[in-house]
Amino acid sequence: MLVGWAAALNDAAAQTNSAAAAKYFSPPDESLYLRGRFVYQRNCVACHGEAGDGSGPMGLTALPRPRNFRAGIFKYRSTPSGALPTDDDLFRTVTQGIPGTAMPFFSEILTERDRRAVVQYVKTFSRKWRAPDNFAAPVTIPEPPAWFTDDAQSARRVESGGKLFAITCAGCHGANGDGKGEAAAALEDFWGRKLVPADLRRPWIHSGHEPTDIYKVLVTGLNGTPMASFADTTTEQQRWELVAYIESLRRESAEKARTGGK
Ligand code: HEC
Ligand code: HEC
Repeated sequence: MLVGWAAALNDAAAQTNSAAAAKYFSPPDESLYLRGRFVYQRNCVACHGEAGDGSGPMGLTALPRPRNFRAGIFKYRSTPSGALPTDDDLFRTVTQGIPGTAMPFFSEILTERDRRAVVQYVKTFSRKWRAPDNFAAPVTIPEPPAWFTDDAQSARRVESGGKLFAITCAGCHGANGDGKGEAAAALEDFWGRKLVPADLRRPWIHSGHEPTDIYKVLVTGLNGTPMASFADTTTEQQRWELVAYIESLRRESAEKARTGGK
């Protein structure tokens, strides 16, 4: 039990947090419900299922499996660990798809209005979207620092990034980023399915291929997976060094593919 000023401070903090979250509260827009359902039934049911539980017939053999929307847990967000995504995050996923998975892109199949409507419909599958506390402000993604595009300077940063990677990430992602670290085989997602760490040498990672996309993963984490947020355990500089290291792995692997080397 907290007493006196400590309790008062705690209440004040809780109120500030709720007030801040309430600003981003975005429950399903009922006016788009019917259109959203129509779009969902024609384009999404085959994988995500009538009830939004990810059990559509076309998704049964996909790895990763189509998202079960009923838990209200989303991987690809601009918001902090644990929070719901913004409407724009979901819109981006539906528009661009998720490269390297069965999730298609709908930029050419659906109008912008239909993509916005289906996003609102997806939000009706979980009660989490009715509670303001589950929302949060998007995190700020800074521009890459000047050294990022300077070969001479970035070589040194890649080296520091590599050292930090060996300590913090290699246990899951493997020393060379191939996704085969010691802990990898035992990892599962929230839904109890085996989940392998990303092979970071591949040209596409699910969140996108820009350095800022990789940076974003490090500050948001992927909800529902063992890939946690490193927002509190790394500095901004360390995160860019990690991104620089991952970029170097990707360049190396693209070069090998181009020259046919092993
Ligand atoms: C061919 C199968 C398929 C179809 C069709 C499909 N999806 Fe997906 N979707 C997936 C898979 C697989 C994933 C999981 C990817 C992952 O975990 O990285 C996914 C994930 C998602 C996510 C979750 C992203 C996150 O942040 O966790 C959303 C939102 C989504 N799909 C929306 C839709 C909507 C809306 C439609 C219809 C317009 C649709 N999907 C159609 C296979 C499909
Ligand atoms: C506890 C194990 C674990 C640790 C530690 C870990 N990761 Fe991950 N990481 C994962 C898993 C599992 C995935 C795949 C998630 C998925 O596909 O849904 C992943 C995915 C990623 C992705 C790809 C995201 C995407 O959108 O596809 C990046 C980038 C990444 N990790 C970077 C890192 C970096 C950098 C570190 C160290 C600071 C790190 N990870 C530490 C388990 C881990």
